[in-house]
Amino acid sequence: MLRSAVAVYLPEDEFPAVNEELADAGFEAIPVSTAGELAALLESRSDVGLAILDGESDFDATIEMYSLLHDGERNVASLMIVSSTAVDRLSLAGRARINGEFVNRPYSAASLRWRVEAMLIRAETMLIRTEALGDSARGAILEGEVGVSSSALAHRGQIVVIFNPKGGVGKTTIAINTAAVLQIRKNQRVLLIDCDTVTGHILTSLGMAEIPTVADVWGADLETNASHSLAEIASAHSSGVAVLTMSRSPLHTEVLEPKRVAQAISAARDVFDWIIVDMHPDYGPLNQGIFALADQILVPVTPEVPTIRAAVQFREVAVDLEIRDRLALVVNRSNSGVAASDVEKVVGFAAMARIRSAGMLFVYAANSHRSAVEAFPKAKVIGDIESLADRLIATRDEPGRTERYPRWLMRPVRDLLDRLTSQSAARSAEPVHTR
Ligand SMILES: Nc1ncnc2c1ncn2[C@@H]1O[C@H](COP(=O)(O)OP(=O)(O)OP(=O)(O)O)[C@@H](O)[C@H]1O
Ligand SMILES: [Mg+2]
Repeated sequence: MLRSAVAVYLPEDEFPAVNEELADAGFEAIPVSTAGELAALLESRSDVGLAILDGESDFDATIEMYSLLHDGERNVASLMIVSSTAVDRLSLAGRARINGEFVNRPYSAASLRWRVEAMLIRAETMLIRTEALGDSARGAILEGEVGVSSSALAHRGQIVVIFNPKGGVGKTTIAINTAAVLQIRKNQRVLLIDCDTVTGHILTSLGMAEIPTVADVWGADLETNASHSLAEIASAHSSGVAVLTMSRSPLHTEVLEPKRVAQAISAARDVFDWIIVDMHPDYGPLNQGIFALADQILVPVTPEVPTIRAAVQFREVAVDLEIRDRLALVVNRSNSGVAASDVEKVVGFAAMARIRSAGMLFVYAANSHRSAVEAFPKAKVIGDIESLADRLIATRDEPGRTERYPRWLMRPVRDLLDRLTSQSAARSAEPVHTR
């Protein structure tokens, strides 16, 4: 796995212990002693995911370094070692876009390591996702040239489930291409998950059949006591979408315990703007756990009687599962068979989008291992899918619908100070570096 480098601005006598812990965790610690050195480092390397800053030795230098980390589009996370007096001064320098955390002296190098690990899991996901794109694209993303819009960053990741109890209605087609539109055209960070452990076909459609599955990685974790997050297991597709599959086989999936899967998907909200989940057509415990999490549930329906019946059945089940208010219809192949408006009437809930029939286009795209958004960007059907993506974004943005600001992002300085106060109160008897 790709690990980030960490810039370390600490007194010389503190560096070795911190360096040892970070090296043990697989991070490269790079010492810097002036703002100029940090600037040169950030210019020359695109993999600096975090900076540890001493807020006590020379606080003005620290503030200068802090600004460098947030210069222009750059937004490198920082972990600041501070005393209470430093915090007072920092609050004066507070700014809206904060992605930093504080640690009080005395600190232990080991505790610093765990904080770094947690913070970098978020930062590194960008790198993991773009691994397949090569150094220049990865650098561009880190430098903010190809990025995520700031409005997108202001939201908690949304879980969108694609489900119809009937097979062959276009679930996977809609999942792949909605994910690609959100990623490529809307600058969102997208995780696409194939939760269909029986007939899942996202990987083959995207030419990623060989990537490790969640079942593979969690199975291996049992031997080593490790615990990999979905963001760590995901692999990048050429579209930039992070892709995951639960399992390649319906057998030996014991490790995919529904509660654990649901928790893992939920945790991925901190890292991605959208988590698109393609599901197997059943009402088993795994699916029920995921329904419960979903912000929006898209029900693709083709204009044929058996498919429409299946959607009506799902609407009734959804009432029992208390997820009825999250369902939205997507009329697929809307220009064939029963009129789309009649489909809406019979199914009993409104269509979020209509997707026209596109002949062999999706098959050709799959043959080239790309989403149709990449292979046929000008096709009218891609316009239909873009409208669906726009509706998903608009629904997310309805006032009061979800928690607007993720805990780790846009956190006001005041919250950090509150936490710092409680940390000070609970200061452990584990002093290692006191100044
Ligand atoms: N709007 C469309 N126009 C043309 N072809 C389509 C359209 N939607 C889906 N298809 C094609 O229909 C077939 C079934 O679609 P898809 O595999 O997405 O369905 P599914 O619901 O995922 O099926 P399963 O339940 O087997 O997983 C595929 O060959 C796909 O390319
Ligand atoms: Mg499918």
